[in-house]
Amino acid sequence: MNFDLTEEQRLVRDTARDFAAREIAPKASEIDKSGRWPAEIIKKMGELGFLGMAIPEAYGGAGLDSLSYALVMEEISAACASCGVIMSVNNSLFCDPIYKFGTEAQKDEVLRACASGAKLGCFGLTEPMSGSDAQTMSTNATKTADGWVIDGAKNWITNGPHADYILVFAVTSRPAPDAANPNPKIKHTAFLVPKGTPGYTQASPDHKLGIHGAHSCTVFFEHCKVPESAVVGKVGEGFRVAMATLDGGRIGIASQALGIAKASLDVSLAYAKERKSFGVPIAQHQAIQFMLSDMATELDAARLLTWRAALMKDSNERHTMQSAEAKLYASEMATRVAHKAIQIHGGYGYSSEFPVERHYRDARITEIYEGTSEIQRIVIAASLLKA
Ligand code: CAA
Repeated sequence: MNFDLTEEQRLVRDTARDFAAREIAPKASEIDKSGRWPAEIIKKMGELGFLGMAIPEAYGGAGLDSLSYALVMEEISAACASCGVIMSVNNSLFCDPIYKFGTEAQKDEVLRACASGAKLGCFGLTEPMSGSDAQTMSTNATKTADGWVIDGAKNWITNGPHADYILVFAVTSRPAPDAANPNPKIKHTAFLVPKGTPGYTQASPDHKLGIHGAHSCTVFFEHCKVPESAVVGKVGEGFRVAMATLDGGRIGIASQALGIAKASLDVSLAYAKERKSFGVPIAQHQAIQFMLSDMATELDAARLLTWRAALMKDSNERHTMQSAEAKLYASEMATRVAHKAIQIHGGYGYSSEFPVERHYRDARITEIYEGTSEIQRIVIAASLLKA
């Protein structure tokens, strides 16, 4: 596997790094403290092609690859993890499945708008009583003469308060168990629902520990009627759509974690060279050097895992296990690195005057969304045992 970046990948990364330094980093603390939605940054990310990175230009995307997407996600998230996840949800959890499973009409109308940044998408899988065990969702879609009626609620929907479309998953067949088949398979289907569809509503944004600028909310479907053309993929195959989508999404979250860790390491290095104790910069103390060494080593290891998963996705290889490994390791690494960054900063690290406390709060969610660390371990073990 070749980890050398092409000229194009380096250019894309440098463009993102420059944009993040100029337009995002100076606002990151204010976005975190105010909890405001960074509308102007999202607009510019759209103009740069960052909202539909791996979608062909014919459908409004940038026509790049998954490794470029991982590179940009890391740069954007290093500046502001909220902006990172807003971007990641639109790219991985919305545009990618519409491109892979959507009809030509859905691609023409919806994908083109969302990949170019004119509109925004979100992904509705999780429910109040079904997160990790996603199959057990209680949202139902009932067949009618000319379409479907969706009833249920989805929560923690990142981008939900602002998204123009939701890709939502519902049960479309729930056979009753009988003696011959005590455990019949529930079948799910994916639907594309535009905001404004009667019966589809959003609650106010959630209050969270971190990623304050990335708004999420509960959404409700109350007798929400959608036409047959709203189905994404095949009826009854929605769970596979969701799982295949998360294989890509986990690369995005792993990259977000890389960005948070990189930002934590960078500020720690700078601080360690400046701050003095016992007559010397603290960078000269072996205790600090060991922390910095561990942070850099773990960050590099996580980056290699993430890039491997992205390269496999680009070569159309099944990457379920590799994405889960990348997401598991990178997210737990980001929390450890941000934890050490606070330690290096001492009391100042605990203050909101310095960015490391934000990195620490932002890192934590990467161990939870798009499958907790425990779910990643289940996915990895299932792949190991199947082999
Ligand atoms: N690709 C394609 N198909 C897949 C697949 C994949 N990666 N993984 C599973 N499938 C298929 C299986 O082949 C199987 O198909 P058949 O029924 O035809 O045999 C079907 O899906 C069911 O698979 P499992 O039996 O493995 O399913 P399970 O019920 O045991 O659960 C799980 C699997 C891995 C635990 C899954 O429920 C899971 O990933 N849970 C976590 C959910 C999650 O990540 N939620 C995140 C929400 S989105 C979010 O967080 C967004 C945000 O805020 C940023």
